[in-house]
Amino acid sequence: MRKPIIIGNWKMNMSIDDGALFISNLNKALSPNVAVGLAVQTIALSSLNTSKGNVLIGAQNVHQEETGAFTGETSVLLLDEIKADFCVIGHSERRQYFNETDEAINAKAKKLLQYNVLPVICVGETLAEYEANTTQSVIEAQIEVCTKDLDIANCVIAYEPVWAIGTGKSANAEIAQNVCALIRTKLTALFGADKANAVRIQYGGSVNENNIAEYMNCADIDGALVGGASLNLENFSKLINY
Ligand code: PGA
Repeated sequence: MRKPIIIGNWKMNMSIDDGALFISNLNKALSPNVAVGLAVQTIALSSLNTSKGNVLIGAQNVHQEETGAFTGETSVLLLDEIKADFCVIGHSERRQYFNETDEAINAKAKKLLQYNVLPVICVGETLAEYEANTTQSVIEAQIEVCTKDLDIANCVIAYEPVWAIGTGKSANAEIAQNVCALIRTKLTALFGADKANAVRIQYGGSVNENNIAEYMNCADIDGALVGGASLNLENFSKLINY
C-alpha cells in the first residue's frame, strides 16, 4: 500500500513567524493516513524544521553539486545538516525561469538520495504541448531522463501540467489519472513492476479543498502538490482531510 503524500508548496510566500504558527496549527489537523509536508523558502527551512511536529518540511530546490562557486544556490549538505525531509526538484517555475533541464533534475535527485532527502520530481507538459496532443511523448521523455539510474522506489513523482498551475484551470480527474497511469507504465518499463508500484505519484495544478477528493480517488494518484490552496490554514486543513 502506498501511503498518500500531500505537499503544500509555499513558493516565495509566508514569513518565518507566520509559517511557524501555521505549522503548529496544521499539526492539530493531521490524520495518520496521509503524510503532509510543506516546501518552504530556504531561509525559513532551518527554523521551521525544528518546530515541525509531524509535518514534513522540505526545500523547493537544491544544487546538484555539494560545494563550490555557485552563488545563491543551496547545498544538499545543508539540507542533510538540518535534516530536511524532502526537496521539490524540477518544478515548472524552475524549468521556465531558471532554465532547469531534465539532466540537471536527474543529477539533483541522485544527490538527494545519497543524503536520504526524499526527491519530489516534477514533470508536466506546457499548454502548447497539451494542445498539440503531445502530452504522452513529453511526459515519457521527461520521466526517462529525470529518473535515469535512480532508486525510484524512494522518490515521489509530481505530475503538474504547466497549464494548470496557478491558473485555476485544473486538469480533471480523468486527465490526471490517465497521465499518472502512463507515468507508472513508463516506470514499469524502466524499473520493473515492483518498484513502479511503490512510487507515489502526485497530481498538482489548481488543487483545492473542493476538488482534492476526486484526485485522491484515482487509482494511480497518491497525493497532491498544492500551491495557492496551501497558504490558507483553514483551506489546507480541509484539503488534507479530503
Ligand atoms: P497551484 O500550484 O496549486 O497554485 O496551481 C501548484 C504548484 O505550483 O505546485
